[in-house]
Amino acid sequence: MSQIIGRGAEAILKKQGNELIKERIKKGYRIPELDEKLRKQRTRSEAKLIAKANEIIASPKLISVDEKSKEIKMKYIEGKKLSDWLDKFPEKQTLEICKEIGKNIALIHNKDIIHGDLTTSNMILNKQVYFFDFGLGFHSARIEDKAVDLHLLRQAFESKHFKNWQKYFNAALEGYKIADKYKEIIDRLKKVEARGRYRKKQ
Ligand SMILES: Nc1ncnc2c1ncn2[C@@H]1O[C@H](COP(=O)(O)OP(=O)(O)O)[C@@H](O)[C@H]1O
Ligand SMILES: [Mg+2]
Repeated sequence: MSQIIGRGAEAILKKQGNELIKERIKKGYRIPELDEKLRKQRTRSEAKLIAKANEIIASPKLISVDEKSKEIKMKYIEGKKLSDWLDKFPEKQTLEICKEIGKNIALIHNKDIIHGDLTTSNMILNKQVYFFDFGLGFHSARIEDKAVDLHLLRQAFESKHFKNWQKYFNAALEGYKIADKYKEIIDRLKKVEARGRYRKKQ
C-alpha cells in the first residue's frame, strides 16, 4: 500500500511504509523521446547526488533507483518540515538549526556538491537537519555556484521567514564558516546580491 504525499512539477511522491518513492512523471508537452531521455537523466543524476550526500550529511538514505520506471526509492524521514516549523521554535533553537543548515551546506560544498534548491521545504528536522530534493543539484567547484547556492537560501529565508530572515541567514553563515574558501565565497555572495538588487531596480 502506498500513499501519495505530494505532487511536484516533475514528480509524484509516494510513501510506502518507511520508504519514499519519487517518480518522475511523463510530460505530455515534450517530444516522447526527449521526455524519456530527460527523465532518465534527471532520475540518474538525483540518485547519484543522494548517494553522495548520504556520505556527507544527514539525508534520506538511497535505497534503489530504477531508470526504466524513473523511480528513486529512499528512506522516508519522519520529522518536522522546516518551512512549517522554523519560525515556531524558541529563538535560540531556531538559530541553532540555521547554523546547522549552514554547516550542512559547507559540508556538501567542500565536496563540490551544489544543492540547487536550498529552501526550507527541502529540509526536515528530526534531531538533525536532513537535506533532500537534489533534483536541481549538480557537481561544481566554482566559487560562483557556491555563492549562488547561498543566495538561494537567503531568498528562501526572505520569502518564507520574512520576519526574522536576517538573523536566520547570519546564523547560517556562521555555520558555513567551515567551508573551504569561505572568504572568497562570501565576497562573491555580496557581488551576487548586488547584482540581484541592480536587477530589481530596472
Ligand atoms: N525522503 C523523504 N522523507 C520524507 N518526506 C519527503 C522525502 N522526500 C520528499 N518528501 C516530501 O515530499 C515533498 C516533495 O519532495 P521533493 O523531493 O522536494 O520534490 P519536488 O522536486 O517536487 O520539490 C517534500 O517537500 C517533502 O514534504
Ligand atoms: Mg522540493
